[in-house]
Amino acid sequence: MTAVHESVLDAIGGTPLFRLSRLGAGLAAPVYAKAEFLGIGGSVKDRAALSMVLAAERDGLLKPGGTIVEATSGNTGIGLAIIGAQRGYRVIVGVGDKASPEKSDILRAYGAEVVLAPTVLPLEDPAHLFNVIRRLAEEIPGAWFANQYDNPANPDAHLRTTGPEIWEQTAGRVTHFVAGVGTGGTITGTAEYLKEVSGGTVTVIGADPESSTYGGGDGSPYFVESIGHFLHPATVEDRQPEAYRTDAPDAFERVPDRESLLTARRLAREEGILAGPSSGTAVAAALRVARRLGPDDLVVVLLPDSGRSYLSKVHSDAWMRQWGFLEESEGAGGLRPLLDGAGPLVAVDAYTTVGEAARALRGAPGGIAPAVQPRTARPYGVSAMEVVGSVSREVLAAALADGTAEPDDPLGALLGPALPTVGVGQSAEEARGALGAGHPGVLVLVDGRAAGVLPRSSLGDG
Ligand SMILES: Cc1ncc(COP(=O)(O)O)c(C=O)c1O
Repeated sequence: MTAVHESVLDAIGGTPLFRLSRLGAGLAAPVYAKAEFLGIGGSVKDRAALSMVLAAERDGLLKPGGTIVEATSGNTGIGLAIIGAQRGYRVIVGVGDKASPEKSDILRAYGAEVVLAPTVLPLEDPAHLFNVIRRLAEEIPGAWFANQYDNPANPDAHLRTTGPEIWEQTAGRVTHFVAGVGTGGTITGTAEYLKEVSGGTVTVIGADPESSTYGGGDGSPYFVESIGHFLHPATVEDRQPEAYRTDAPDAFERVPDRESLLTARRLAREEGILAGPSSGTAVAAALRVARRLGPDDLVVVLLPDSGRSYLSKVHSDAWMRQWGFLEESEGAGGLRPLLDGAGPLVAVDAYTTVGEAARALRGAPGGIAPAVQPRTARPYGVSAMEVVGSVSREVLAAALADGTAEPDDPLGALLGPALPTVGVGQSAEEARGALGAGHPGVLVLVDGRAAGVLPRSSLGDG
């Protein structure tokens, strides 16, 4: 019989497991997906939101008529907005600019106030989402900052609910648990329960974006939302969330954006499960793990949220092509042959000198190059999110010739606007459209990373 609840809050948690029978076909170990997208707010974060609000009420931090303030990639905010609607709190949610627009629309639909702020900034920058939201929480009388990153009630929700559910649903047969790490609340609380109850036999695997620092990357940007740890090169002091115990995962699987996004799309098309990009990362990791296991093992992978929040991103063919994650082009043929003929990418450090930039530009096709945030090494290439402008050989030569710039001057004043970007799967016609009247060329993206510049002349638009 179907349950009857006194309010939506009573229906938080208690999600089913689905066997991934098609993606896991041929594997000896069964893989079961914990379907958090079926929760009231459509994500795993309902659990943490409820747990944090109940703790704040109990501790007298949140009083009747008070205001809940939180910084989030969206889902924790949605959970808080639902609770706020039920219990009469004003809810103000700061959402990172990388989050899908659907999440902000959902927040507004629940009556929450949305503040959009950048996150691809140094942590200390006053404009960074966390600092904007912290200031708001201090300024508004009666405001309580939920602070999921450091709030012990966040992992505690998973210790009390997610972990016991998985143990009970698998009748204690689970041997491997796979989840992404955002605040770390899910993996920390669930791991603590499963390790304790199994006498330490359950292995926990963190599913991490390839360049995230959690699993050993350099912290450069990635496209999957809500998991991993980004580190801006100018951040002075990085900090780890207190909700995350670094010994919770026994190991990490590091998953490139392309594998995450394509796996999220396969989940919809092959399993009938419409989930978000972090579910793609988790399932890609779980499948890798399951390939190494036998019939006595059982893998549970947590799917944090619904794909309905990403119809404009991972589940949109146009978006996937625009960022270079899909190469099949409709009819016209993609940019791959032109890109292969254009020569390797030349990228210029945006904070270098005019003389250094002029030297770097000698080998640049068409004499133009993207100007990028500096990093000491680039094991994962130049992310589209790190491009801050463009540099042109012609502009530098003119400035050096007429004396408006010296070779030792900082490049800054001579930077042009960022080149328009096109995905490698887009057509030459689309690239010409992106050029408009003013740009000297386009930057071609493969897997969300800069792969080369196509000057205007190479696009038959000379
Ligand atoms: C879609 C999605 N995936 C994964 C996570 C990571 O969960 P946690 O913060 O518990 O580590 C979040 C958290 O916001 C999320 O919204």
